Amino acid sequence: MFARELLLQPDESLTFARDAHGDEAYVRLDLESLLESVIDGENDVVGGSVEFHGPVRLIVEAQTVVLRRALTNLVQNAVQYGGRARVAMSQEGDEVAVRIEDQGPGIAPEDRVRVLKPYVRLEGSRSRDTGGTGLGLAIASNVIRRLEGSIAFGGGAGQFAVVVRLPAVRSGRTER
Ligand SMILES: Nc1ncnc2c1ncn2[C@@H]1O[C@H](COP(=O)(O)OP(=O)(O)OP(=O)(O)O)[C@@H](O)[C@H]1O
Ligand SMILES: [Mg+2]
Repeated sequence: MFARELLLQPDESLTFARDAHGDEAYVRLDLESLLESVIDGENDVVGGSVEFHGPVRLIVEAQTVVLRRALTNLVQNAVQYGGRARVAMSQEGDEVAVRIEDQGPGIAPEDRVRVLKPYVRLEGSRSRDTGGTGLGLAIASNVIRRLEGSIAFGGGAGQFAVVVRLPAVRSGRTER
């Protein structure tokens, strides 16, 4: 656990992400299965650069497609900017925490609020040919806020982490 994590407010004006899957149903889903499939999909592309650590079966209530997209964006960022990624999942009280860690340059503390806004790419990425649009974090943070969760950045260059927290669901039916 990083000692200092900045809690971030997502951009309220980001309506496109909110509306994109407006009518998808909320279901109780097994976050470990969702993360494994996100990571498998990414590893197919990047040849096994993403590793996963987590207990089985933590349940959250979410729109599957929307949450998948948010988590995929974060894992792709870690691989794109850090080369490799480690994803860890744990229960923390009433919440489920997903940490997406990489050993790249990270995001400087002074950039951690504005980088959540649509189309913001930081200096190093703009000059690099990474080809992004600057929407990945904006979409992810918006989705996570809608699920009454939070997104925070921890660590720094060489030990960067994006931490997503979502309310845990303790019991009940699971759908995928
Ligand atoms: N893990 C990371 N390490 C370092 N910088 C990052 C990381 N994740 C995001 N960034 C920085 O934040 C910027 C915004 O990220 P975001 O995912 O929103 O857009 P993007 O990756 O540039 O494009 P895309 O829309 O394809 O995701 C990136 O351009 C990069 O500068
Ligand atoms: Mg991105």
